[in-house]
Amino acid sequence: MSTKNTKHEPSGISRRGFLKGVGAGAVATGLLQEVSESAGIAEAATPTTLGPGEIPIKLNVNGQSRSLNVEPRVTLLDALRNRLDVTGTKKVCDRGTCGACTVLLDGKVVYSCSVLAVEAQDKKIVTIEGLGTPDNLSDMQAAFIEHDASQCGFCTPGFIVATTAFVRDNPGATLEEVREGLGGNLCRCGTYAGITAATFEQAQKGGA
Ligand code: FES
Ligand code: FES
Repeated sequence: MSTKNTKHEPSGISRRGFLKGVGAGAVATGLLQEVSESAGIAEAATPTTLGPGEIPIKLNVNGQSRSLNVEPRVTLLDALRNRLDVTGTKKVCDRGTCGACTVLLDGKVVYSCSVLAVEAQDKKIVTIEGLGTPDNLSDMQAAFIEHDASQCGFCTPGFIVATTAFVRDNPGATLEEVREGLGGNLCRCGTYAGITAATFEQAQKGGA
């Protein structure tokens, strides 16, 4: 015998109750408007505007505090490359599509062409230069060389930053998970086999 209760239970909200609730909400909204008009309107009417000329900002790049002047419209990518001479981060699409400009912002993977430099203040920026140097390669950089994961090299810095963060967050990732994890970066030379092998190897080692 079925134990299913087919009796229609009241939902707990009657039409009358709903209308009363809406009315109370409308009154509350009205009160809020009155309060904000009397107390907060002066602040809302005077928003802070930046620019359009250059403004002084500070960026923390690879552990160093760097001072520079930029127009508020300048992207983090252009500030790094054109103002700070940190050119390991590459500019390809400049449209948040290819991943060549990938950096870490407070540990999160971001496209630096899609972040304004002024937004990156008070955050820790890590570029490819901050992961390793030619004399002291990071494990992922060494794995890319070992697995021949680079041809022209233009996509490589972005891939290494992205894959370093991927294995940090996904130690022991499967091959399928690695392939999926590489989805935010494009390589026009088609070195995906080497990149996948290097990343999988580092994931199996528990992270670069
Ligand atoms: S240059 Fe930023 S995603 Fe392509
Ligand atoms: S190695 Fe040339 S675009 Fe990737």
